[in-house]
Amino acid sequence: MRSLIDILDLSVEEIDALIVTACDIIANPDKYAECCKRKKLATLFFEPSTRTRLSFEAAMLELGGSVIGFSSANSSSAAKGESVADTAKVISCYADIIAMRHPKEGAALVAAQNAEIPVINAGDGGHCHPTQTLADLLTVYREKGRFSNLTVGLCGDLKFGRTVHSLINAMSRYDNVKFVLISPEELKLPSYVKNAALKGKGIEYVQTTDLEAAMPGLDILYMTRIQQERFADIDEYLRLKDSYILTPEKLASAKPDMCILHPLPRVNEISVKVDADPRACYFKQVLNGKFMRMALILKLLEEAKR
Ligand code: CP
Repeated sequence: MRSLIDILDLSVEEIDALIVTACDIIANPDKYAECCKRKKLATLFFEPSTRTRLSFEAAMLELGGSVIGFSSANSSSAAKGESVADTAKVISCYADIIAMRHPKEGAALVAAQNAEIPVINAGDGGHCHPTQTLADLLTVYREKGRFSNLTVGLCGDLKFGRTVHSLINAMSRYDNVKFVLISPEELKLPSYVKNAALKGKGIEYVQTTDLEAAMPGLDILYMTRIQQERFADIDEYLRLKDSYILTPEKLASAKPDMCILHPLPRVNEISVKVDADPRACYFKQVLNGKFMRMALILKLLEEAKR
């Protein structure tokens, strides 16, 4: 059974095909309005979400399917001690496909190993968030028209930022992509991501704490939130939380066509004054996420038939 746990589960060709499908959905929504008639998506969210859960649900509804699920661990039998493996087996009796978010790294893989239906990882702890990456990639494609020959700056929490890990893994597969890793010393990209995605493949990258110095060279700036929920020590969070705040003044030295992305939610790391800047693409990114999730649901349900 084909599931999506890590963005690297999809080949570059499969991502290209998902982008083609998403663009066709954007152009011809009526063509897809009944594609998932009588199919059910189960959204199993053991951790809070606005965009990912609701965009999966909107995606399935726009494909003519229906949705069941829960939005917190406390409203499921996980609160009584049920395992992820048993939950996946049970939901396989009710639904055709699962989208699951869980605070523990590896939980989506356990679900996929036990489910009888496709499982989509909607975020597992600080590990991966592959469908956010699909949203990011469609946004880059629509804004820049290419994935190659780009300098990508990633700024903020690169240690726990699962969206960052998935995006680096995805974009390091394209030609002449350079990365600028901008973070406080305490929140640097983990070695396991750096070694596998960058060092191991000879990809050019620099690490810095200085966003303003990096700004002029960037084609894409991917801002991220410093995530309070990942810190064991609240004092460390309070010390680091406002490390980077993007303002119109800081954007003065950026390229006129730089693309500003953020997986959202934001707290304080992008001033609302930046929202009016034509380079701000983070709300377009939200909408693109729904189209890519529609394309992904179609693909996995089609493969499950075989
Ligand atoms: N980007 C993202 O995963 O947002 P949510 O936490 O609201 O789903």
